[in-house]
Amino acid sequence: MTDITDGALVVTGGLSGIGAAVAAAATVEGWRVVVLDRAAPGDLHSPAGHTIFPEPVDVTDAETVARTCDAIEKQHGPISGLVNAAGILGKMHAPQRLALSDWDREIAVDLRGTFVPCREIGGRMARRGNGAIVNVASVVGMTSAPVHGYAPAKAAVIHLTATLAAEWGPSGVRVNCVSPGFTDTPALQKGFAAGALDRDTLSKAAALGRLVRAQEVAAAIVWLLSDRASGVTGVNLPVDAGFLVGQPWAAYGGLRRMS
Ligand code: NAI
Repeated sequence: MTDITDGALVVTGGLSGIGAAVAAAATVEGWRVVVLDRAAPGDLHSPAGHTIFPEPVDVTDAETVARTCDAIEKQHGPISGLVNAAGILGKMHAPQRLALSDWDREIAVDLRGTFVPCREIGGRMARRGNGAIVNVASVVGMTSAPVHGYAPAKAAVIHLTATLAAEWGPSGVRVNCVSPGFTDTPALQKGFAAGALDRDTLSKAAALGRLVRAQEVAAAIVWLLSDRASGVTGVNLPVDAGFLVGQPWAAYGGLRRMS
């Protein structure tokens, strides 16, 4: 392969939000994109021109992921890119009220559901000596937040990214992650509709005074995948509209805004 986009790109969780934005942006970049999602519909091609794997794929199910990768490589050739965007947001209950079944599910989907495709596809890439992986973590994996299953799972995704980058770097595989801030996707919109989160409060918490757009996260991911980022591995790149830099200012009365 002369260019990484000569291979296929698998995007998990690509039917909605950040994953869908990645699938669209990567298709424009010349990738042959195959979307995997537990909610896969029957149609084979999306309006953006990428392929949607026709059967639902749960990323926590290692056997199904392995079988799906065999089918993809048979039809589309070697997989040289992977984006792990499948995930669920966390419940905001106090620890004593957070059902262990919810905690287990958040750890399973957000951590195991990242490791399983990395393990399957990263292993194939390492054997071939070429590939790039981008995981989707979160700013709450870098700071404290009242999501006691989700936040530790995302912190672990950041750490997993570093361990895999060191493991597979000698085999020519780069592994990075992005940590989105509050991003305007169907998942977050559900939180607004349920009254668990407030759009205005979240917007004001970021230095740029707004939510992140899914396309902005996708742009960073597509760059990290590309050969333009050929010297970058093991990093965690926040794409957060300045949420992290704005947080400590709360102790000083908050961010200053020109009126
Ligand atoms: P979304 O709900 O819009 O999209 C997630 C997609 O993942 C859906 O299509 C869903 O069907 C799929 N999915 C969920 N569980 C799956 C499973 N077990 N197997 C296969 N597919 C599965 O969510 P959004 O907001 O686009 O989130 C994408 C990723 O970004 C998640 O990992 C989320 O934690 C992360 N993130 C989102 C932020 C936000 O504010 N929206 C902030 C920081 C991180």
